[in-house]
Amino acid sequence: VLAGFAIAGLAACGKKEEAAPAKALVVGTDAAYAPFESQDAQGNIVGFDIDVVKAIAANQGLEVKFVNTPWEGIFNTLAQGDRDLLVSAITITAERKQTMDFSNPYFDAKQLIAVAEKSTVTKFADIKTLKVGVQTGTTGDDVVQGLLGKDSANIKRFESTPLALKELEAGGVQAVVADNGVVENYVNNNANFKFKTVSDDSFTPEQYGIAVRKGNTELLEKINKGLAAIKADGTYAKIHAQWFGG
Ligand code: ARG
Repeated sequence: VLAGFAIAGLAACGKKEEAAPAKALVVGTDAAYAPFESQDAQGNIVGFDIDVVKAIAANQGLEVKFVNTPWEGIFNTLAQGDRDLLVSAITITAERKQTMDFSNPYFDAKQLIAVAEKSTVTKFADIKTLKVGVQTGTTGDDVVQGLLGKDSANIKRFESTPLALKELEAGGVQAVVADNGVVENYVNNNANFKFKTVSDDSFTPEQYGIAVRKGNTELLEKINKGLAAIKADGTYAKIHAQWFGG
């Protein structure tokens, strides 16, 4: 009986080792943010951020698995250990740095205003009295709160940026404020409605970072090393050209 157990145990062990090599790191991303992260027709998570993380992982010998994760609560999934890292066009902010650690910046961004082509809005201050759509809890939400007031009834919050832009098409809001890359992508790929974009020098430059749990320096160092390597060897430039052209 003992021998039987021992053999069964060994067999189980051997099997387990084969089936599970390096455990894949779970990457959370809100995949409704093209061209940074979105789902293709087959449901695969694709985008600039995805390719950057895949390239970093390949460079560092890490295995990664992407899991679509709603923006609201995405930071909790990291804190709770359900995700090992987050890549989601996340702006590095002083506030967020208190609860998570960020890689070195991998992308520069800025807020951009989308309005209907016939709109008279020419600068950020012009939207002060309008209904404005934002994605809840984003830096766009922050800047709009700064102008309209935190509890303004004119701020319409959506769980994704595309939903806010849809509402602009539908006429429920007169402006949307969100990251330039995602606004430009939506406006350029939308044939049904004529948008225009308005930039404003008062918007603070933003930088995206990859987030890890606070204190996970081992993983953070690997990410930073991999990021430096893919920038140095031309991989980053290739990925950038693929998603943003040129
Ligand atoms: N950069 C903005 C922020 O960090 C918006 C990011 C939203 N990302 C997304 N995948 N929905 O607040």
